[in-house]
Amino acid sequence: MNEKIILRRLDDMHCHFRTDLLLKEVLPFTAQYAGRGIAMPNTRPRAILTGDDVVWYRGEIKRALDEMPDRYSFEPLMTVEIRDNTTPQMIAKAHHAGAVAGKVYPLGVTTNSDEGLRDFDNERISETFRAMQDAGMLLLIHGELDRERTLVMKREEIFLPTLLALADKFPNLKIVLEHVSTRAAVESVRQLGNNVAATITAHHLCLTLNDVVGYGIQPHHGCMPMPKDFDDRDALIAAATSENPKFFLGSDTAPHPREKKECAKGACGVYTAPVLPQVLAEVFESVKRLNRLENFTSRFGAEFYGLPLNEGAIITLVKTEWVVPEQIGSVVPFRAGTKLQWQLS
Ligand code: DOR
Ligand code: ZN
Repeated sequence: MNEKIILRRLDDMHCHFRTDLLLKEVLPFTAQYAGRGIAMPNTRPRAILTGDDVVWYRGEIKRALDEMPDRYSFEPLMTVEIRDNTTPQMIAKAHHAGAVAGKVYPLGVTTNSDEGLRDFDNERISETFRAMQDAGMLLLIHGELDRERTLVMKREEIFLPTLLALADKFPNLKIVLEHVSTRAAVESVRQLGNNVAATITAHHLCLTLNDVVGYGIQPHHGCMPMPKDFDDRDALIAAATSENPKFFLGSDTAPHPREKKECAKGACGVYTAPVLPQVLAEVFESVKRLNRLENFTSRFGAEFYGLPLNEGAIITLVKTEWVVPEQIGSVVPFRAGTKLQWQLS
């Protein structure tokens, strides 16, 4: 008998489902093993900014689910993007439309952040954050700043004072620092109050900068925040496997068609959805913490969001080697062409 892992269905608290054909292509992978997924709002051409956008995007995702040959018990959790012009009234409407969170992309730090937030300090945006706090919506933050004479490797670290200020100013606003990539960020989140948590991706648990530019440029490992040093990765693995409920899964699965990655100015994003539980099992097993996987994937995120745990259906991983395809649909998945030890049954 092969070894098995049985898990409560996952909550993936950070997904890029995109729209149209790409949505239909990528959604089945997450829906297969997750009970819920946070749908990030940086879609194009229509970004998710208002209550109407939330209703439209949820409809698109539900339609894509209905069209799948297999029925999955999957629920998208909706978000809106917070920009400089997002008002408390827009927050009220988005909340009414079912958005559970607002996402901030600081200007210019990643894919589709060209209209991101410029100023965290002004009084108008504080009113917006206050409206989120009052409505019980979460604030999800891409925690990097693009500043003059600041290397991409330092962008997360220079954001941390802003995080501290926000956590201090809004003690009842639940804040998630998304896809932490440094030891410094892990330490900040650990030290802040219980209103602050962080998501961790599978690829940041696996990669360092060497895997992006150290052995030829590997565009399919390029993402924001950039994978960093070995010591940072050690800190992420320690946090994910620590059973500290402040750290939970948000995969940031970010599909871009192959030609958008393999070109002169490749898009940022790693497509992990097709291999997510399998890769996580490998990482947790490598540090002899497989017994802690379920809390990371299926408990701590729900608890921080104030949601009941996924009940009913479960997923099973079986220890059987397989090779990840070189391409799935139009996208090259994480670990393409390499062997994985665990298979989803
Ligand atoms: O690498 C990334 N890709 N980081 C993000 O924050 C956004 C994402 C995307 O949308 O492709
Ligand atoms: Zn993302």
